[in-house]
Amino acid sequence: MWSELRNLRDGIDLGTPPREGPPVAVTIDGKALEVPAGSSVMAAAAMASCPVPKLCATDTLEAFGSCRVCLVEIQGRKGFPAACTTLVEAGMVVRTESPRLQELRRSVMELYLSDFPAAEIPGGWSELHDTMRRLGVDSHPYGDGENHLQAPVDASNPYFVFDPQKCIVCSRCVRACEEIQGTFALTIEGRGFQSKVTASQGESFLASECVSCGACVLACPTHSLVEKSLFPGGHYHAPSPQA
Ligand code: SF4
Ligand code: FES
Repeated sequence: MWSELRNLRDGIDLGTPPREGPPVAVTIDGKALEVPAGSSVMAAAAMASCPVPKLCATDTLEAFGSCRVCLVEIQGRKGFPAACTTLVEAGMVVRTESPRLQELRRSVMELYLSDFPAAEIPGGWSELHDTMRRLGVDSHPYGDGENHLQAPVDASNPYFVFDPQKCIVCSRCVRACEEIQGTFALTIEGRGFQSKVTASQGESFLASECVSCGACVLACPTHSLVEKSLFPGGHYHAPSPQA
C-alpha cells in the first residue's frame, strides 16, 4: 500500500500539487516558460528543470512553508520569499540560485543538523540527506545546546518507528494523515522549540487513532518515521536501497 501511495504523483516531485489554471508566463533562472495559474514558484521552477531545495514541501501535500530551505529571489520583491508558498504571477522573474541564497539555505541546514543525531548525519539517504549533499552541508558550527537528542523512540507500531530525535517538525506527517488518509491521528503539540509530533492525545502510535496506513512514513523527509522492515535488528543505519 505504501508504494502505491508513493505513486500518487509520477516522476519528479514538483514540491506542491499540480494546478490546472490558464497559462501564466514566467522566467526561472533565465528560462521562459508557461505554467498553470495557481502554481507555486517551486512547481514552476521544477517544471523549468531548476528544482529548488526543499524539506517541508512535497507535491502530494498542500504547501506549509515552515522549513525555509526553499528561499528564492524574485525581481522587484524585497527579501527572499519561500518558493513553496509563493504563487506565480504573469511576468514574474525568479532566480533560484545565487551566492546569498546558497548561504541562507546552508545556514538553515546547519541549524537542523545542530539538533540531529550526529552519528546519523553521514551516509543517510533520506530527503534531508539529499538536501544536505546538494547544499554541501555535513556539519554545523554550533556547540552542545538545548536539543531533542534524548527524546525516546516510539517503536510501538508493528510496521514503523517514530524517532523524535530525527524530527525537524516539518508537519509533512501530520498533513499526510489529514490530507491523504483523513484520519487526523497526528498533531504538532506545543510551540517553537517545544513543538513536537504527537499521536492522538500524547499516546503511543499503537494506542492512538493511527490506522497504520503508512502515509506519514512516506511523507517523512528525515526517516524520523520509517518502516521497521528497512532496519533489520534496529532502527538506525538503514541500509541504502541502492546498495
Ligand atoms: S516525523 Fe518526519 S514528517 Fe513528521 S514532522 Fe517529523 S520530520 Fe516531519
Ligand atoms: S519547502 Fe518551502 S518552506 Fe519548506
